[in-house]
Amino acid sequence: MEPVHIEVRHADGRGYPIDLAEGLGLRLLAALDALGVGAQRVFVSTAPIWRTVRHLLPEGLPDADVVLMADGERHKQLPAVSRLYDALMRAGADRATTVVAIGGGVVGDTAGFAAATYMRGLPIVHVPTTLVAQVDSAIGGKVGVNHPLAKNLVGAFHRPLAVLGDPRFLATLPRREFRAGLYEVVKYGAVASVELFTRVSHDLRGIFARSADVLLPVIADCCRIKARVVAADEREAGERRILNFGHTAGHALEALTKYRRFRHGEAVGYGMLVAARLAVARGAMPADDCEALAQAVTHMGPLPPVADLAADQVLEAMRLDKKVRAGRLHFVIPRRIGAVEVVDDVTDGELRAAMVATGLRG
Ligand code: GLY
Repeated sequence: MEPVHIEVRHADGRGYPIDLAEGLGLRLLAALDALGVGAQRVFVSTAPIWRTVRHLLPEGLPDADVVLMADGERHKQLPAVSRLYDALMRAGADRATTVVAIGGGVVGDTAGFAAATYMRGLPIVHVPTTLVAQVDSAIGGKVGVNHPLAKNLVGAFHRPLAVLGDPRFLATLPRREFRAGLYEVVKYGAVASVELFTRVSHDLRGIFARSADVLLPVIADCCRIKARVVAADEREAGERRILNFGHTAGHALEALTKYRRFRHGEAVGYGMLVAARLAVARGAMPADDCEALAQAVTHMGPLPPVADLAADQVLEAMRLDKKVRAGRLHFVIPRRIGAVEVVDDVTDGELRAAMVATGLRG
């Protein structure tokens, strides 16, 4: 399978590459050298990730050089950032040091926020090892941590030097973690590409086999969509908001359950269903497209239960979302598969009804 090279090119003429290739992990040190990354590097990962991907990384990368942070979304909070500052200080990091984040969204977002803020900014290279990170969180420069009450509430925009993805990492993922990434893939199809949506919906067997031949083109398509969107709207003033499809209810579900019940992608799976049901109810989306989306989500496999969660509690959590501006919630609703729009007139009643139709308690 041919390597894929995508450029994120911003309006200021600067940007960064996304390189995807089988075996790129084994060539990581050479890839960093080729990017001109200086010799002072601090690698950040978590113990479980490091154990499972170590054999896919260069032998010459000493284990002692890796800073291991706590694993899991519930640890993506300010204390983890503070511990990374300690580790950077112990490592003698200065502005010539590059942070290399090896892991999923938790590692990338937390290490990214530490990199963005330590000494007012160190360069970072993302080496995403999960599907969610390869198709979404490693790209676009959003870094940050959760507040106990609101997902990703504390953060920054910090462009990486590069994103280096290897589909071989995905073979190491627990099935549930892999599946969680597929909901983000479905999101890309739903917001921007009927072709991608259809391909993913119809080739689940090939995708779950996790062969690089099937996965690499899918990941590349998602990265191309994201690269195009974030290049045009880095700071989410406009078009980038479409990438939040499913994320408003999704983030609220994650926060409400203390970041313990859902993988991020699973919460987005529910969030997309809520948005689609709301869209159908207001006549903005054909029911057939909503059904196709619901099938794509449910065919991925079981989602954690939501029947014990009250729609009103989720509504309350949504009010703390970053997408609330001047008191109005900016909500992404689908028009059809492949097209969404952002509206600011969704009522609590509509949201409540869509959540109940998705299985939450009324
Ligand atoms: N995950 C949505 C974004 O990066 O904008």
